[in-house]
Amino acid sequence: MNQAVQSPLAARRSGPLRGRVRAPGDKSISHRALIVGALAVGETRISRLLEGEDVLHTADAVRALGARVERVGEGEWSVRGVGVGGFREPREVLDFGNSGTGCRLVMGALAGCPVTATFDGDASLRKRPMQRILDPAELIGARAVSVADGGRLPITLVGARDPMPVVYRTPVPSAQIKSAVLLAGLAAPGETTVIESEASRDHTERLLAHFGADVTVDADGNGRRIRLKGQPELRPAPVAVPADPSSAAFPMVAALIVPGSEIIVAGVMTNPLRTGLIATLREMGADIETLDHRSDGGEETADFRVRASALRGVEVPAARAPSMIDEYPVLAVAASFAEGTTVMRGLKELRVKESDRLAAVAEGLRANAVEVEIVGDDLIVEGSGQAAGGGKVTTHMDHRIAMAFLVMGLATQRPVAVDDVSFVATSFPGFVPMMRGLGAAMD
Ligand code: S3P
Repeated sequence: MNQAVQSPLAARRSGPLRGRVRAPGDKSISHRALIVGALAVGETRISRLLEGEDVLHTADAVRALGARVERVGEGEWSVRGVGVGGFREPREVLDFGNSGTGCRLVMGALAGCPVTATFDGDASLRKRPMQRILDPAELIGARAVSVADGGRLPITLVGARDPMPVVYRTPVPSAQIKSAVLLAGLAAPGETTVIESEASRDHTERLLAHFGADVTVDADGNGRRIRLKGQPELRPAPVAVPADPSSAAFPMVAALIVPGSEIIVAGVMTNPLRTGLIATLREMGADIETLDHRSDGGEETADFRVRASALRGVEVPAARAPSMIDEYPVLAVAASFAEGTTVMRGLKELRVKESDRLAAVAEGLRANAVEVEIVGDDLIVEGSGQAAGGGKVTTHMDHRIAMAFLVMGLATQRPVAVDDVSFVATSFPGFVPMMRGLGAAMD
């Protein structure tokens, strides 16, 4: 992506949104399907893969590490893996663009293989903390031989020749840390254990089991203890990627705040570790009806009918954060249109996403005349049932900040402009045309 060229866009107050849409494939599962497929022996077929820039960087990375990765149709991909521990040394730097997930998961997978690789990314990714992956990687036997200031990219990692099984307690509830340790542990003999104090998304565990690994998950207080038997032969299994709830969140909130709207959002993954936003919006009074709940390739999915609703402020407990961590920007937009105060607690991790999302959300809301405060790690939004808009929002290379504020502008009195929509292509390449198809005015 050419970072020098920004693409501004504005959203204007729109008529009722109508129609049926499907969000693109889940980003978390798309990265994992490519990586686990690359570690299996034989051909993995993936359908409805998210073809966003983040995932395409992961496809390039596992290709550089020796897997054969081919696009065989729209969203249809074939991966011929190298087997657990079988990555070869890449000739080039692995560039993950904007993607923390791709970078951290591949770092984990590489930590268990006896090869050296350099990891890099764009200006946003270069600011994000990587020490959280290097710490467990070093316990497993990998070595970081070159690291930029403060545990940042670019990083050169030498994978372990004899990876050790570890028992690792994640210091923050993070599916990325958990997944990196499990992917590294694949190559270690014996049992690798990850303990998390709060349950985070479990797609890695599910996918490894789907490919024949022996994975046991037990409750551990409010969290979980995950045990993986090392050195499995991963057997390819087809992966049908469900629609991403974190992307579906944008048309859903748009339909809630644009008066008179009624839309259907189809095929949304309803894994309980990802549905915190829907629970919260329902507590706020959102009319979200579940239609046709079904099981689809190892994950539950549903179609949702969403109707414009009068929302009220609520308190969102910190314990819910892992199940909706990427949805706070758009929840903050919904809260601006609610009556009363919404308090979102325990958002420390939002400071280390594609941007400092706590600051970016507060700044964007203020620019649009919404009263907002950050107290410690909590975000407090004063809703008055409507929002003035008229602001220009700085997106800080963050796709979700761009999409959240474009959604906002569909219901504000005056348009909301964002400085750059180019990063939307990292997770939701068809966002603008999809929203226009529902009746959204974006130009
Ligand atoms: C992800 C985990 C979350 C989330 C990210 C995707 C994943 O990050 O914010 O967008 O696929 O594992 P953390 O695990 O760091 O909280």
